[in-house]
Amino acid sequence: MTLFSETRRVAGVELTLLRPESPEALIDEQAFANDEFLPYWAELWPAATALAEALPDVGGLRVVELGCGLGVPSLVAAARGADVTATDWAEDAIGLLRANAARNGLALVAEVRDWRLPWPDRFDLALAADVLYEQRNVEPVLNRLRELAPQALVGLAGRPYESEFVRAAGHVEQVAERVVLLRRAS
Ligand SMILES: C[S@@+](CC[C@H](N)C(=O)[O-])C[C@H]1O[C@@H](n2cnc3c(N)ncnc32)[C@H](O)[C@@H]1O
Repeated sequence: MTLFSETRRVAGVELTLLRPESPEALIDEQAFANDEFLPYWAELWPAATALAEALPDVGGLRVVELGCGLGVPSLVAAARGADVTATDWAEDAIGLLRANAARNGLALVAEVRDWRLPWPDRFDLALAADVLYEQRNVEPVLNRLRELAPQALVGLAGRPYESEFVRAAGHVEQVAERVVLLRRAS
């Protein structure tokens, strides 16, 4: 995988990120045939920067990100003093995020997790950006967000299945142009 380095200021945090030069070159026909896996993790999607910009004061909170890809919201949350666990099903995304956290002097946990499977850890806040691009993602993402934390911030990208997610969630608050807050009913 050929990487290039890019420096960006996101939500007041300067991040130097290694990123794949050609995400299309990472397409693996066998992985697609097995589980419709596509290397979407390798792009920095606008919903991720919108979500990072919309983060509240997360200092001292336990924060989890689902489908983190390059993990910009997680990196910004770590820079602001959160105890962050970033997750994705793509092993390459997790390896690169660990490297990018180290390059930026940030501490976070990065783990391979498939959002279709529950896991026992619990957090104060869950994050997810641009994960509602396929119908099959809607139900497991909503279930994991609700289980993992009492509130979740979701970065939206104008994908067709986002309205289905909002309907299934019952009630969400718009907290920024591309970001909604979902609270678990108590
Ligand atoms: C469109 S990308 C968004 C990446 C990142 N959140 C961003 O906004 O830049 C969707 C992400 O969801 C991840 N993903 C897709 N299916 C997944 C699953 N079942 N479990 C965990 N992550 C998944 C992909 O690997 C990818 O990183």
